[in-house]
Amino acid sequence: MSNAPGYFVSFEGGDGVGKSTHVRLLGQWLGEATGREVVTTREPGGTELGVELRRLVMHGDDMDPRTEALLYAADRAHHVASVVRPALARGAIVVTDRYLDSSVAYQAGGRELGEEEVEGLSLWATGGLLPHVTVLLDLDPVVGAARLSGEPDRLERAGDDFHRRTRETFLRRAAADPRRWVVVDASAPLDDVQAQVRVDVAARLDLTPVVEEAVESTEERA
Ligand code: TYD
Repeated sequence: MSNAPGYFVSFEGGDGVGKSTHVRLLGQWLGEATGREVVTTREPGGTELGVELRRLVMHGDDMDPRTEALLYAADRAHHVASVVRPALARGAIVVTDRYLDSSVAYQAGGRELGEEEVEGLSLWATGGLLPHVTVLLDLDPVVGAARLSGEPDRLERAGDDFHRRTRETFLRRAAADPRRWVVVDASAPLDDVQAQVRVDVAARLDLTPVVEEAVESTEERA
């Protein structure tokens, strides 16, 4: 766990669960509710180098699973060193669309590499930085796939069994560490999912009093 003054929140889940929308909405709301700086970001591709790595790993030629794992880990190392740690050191709330658990779910679960090895690689890459809270937006991958638009990327094309293993890995990790994880059913309407995310994140980050005050003052103004 980080000893920097900021808060670190990650979102995880399969393709098509709506992570990017919920990251944006939660980020806006946390900024308003706490008055703190909020940095919303993503993996892969949260930096200039990361954009290049994202293109290679998601849209490039086929590669073996170890190469894929190393590219995601390289993106993560640079992202943490150049964006996440500096923001946490400033006292910001960082909300990232995917983090190390995606590597464990996709490269270990999906591609069937060793789970401890893949996790160890990311822990090495990040100097051991784990989120304070990780939100799993859980959805049947068949439903998620139906929500996607455009040409599927390399990972989205990996097949039903791959995506089933990915989901199972996320759920198993969440069940094993309930202090870090919250699991939200992403099949509900968007507003309901976001409301649940806010309640769970506020509780985990000890923001409930700040958040209640913000809600009360909004109600007073109305
Ligand atoms: P995402 O940004 O969610 O894709 P999109 O912009 O299409 O919604 O994620 C990129 C893809 O990379 C996704 O299929 C999951 C995969 N991924 C991994 O396999 N391992 C990782 O460590 C990360 C961060 C992502």
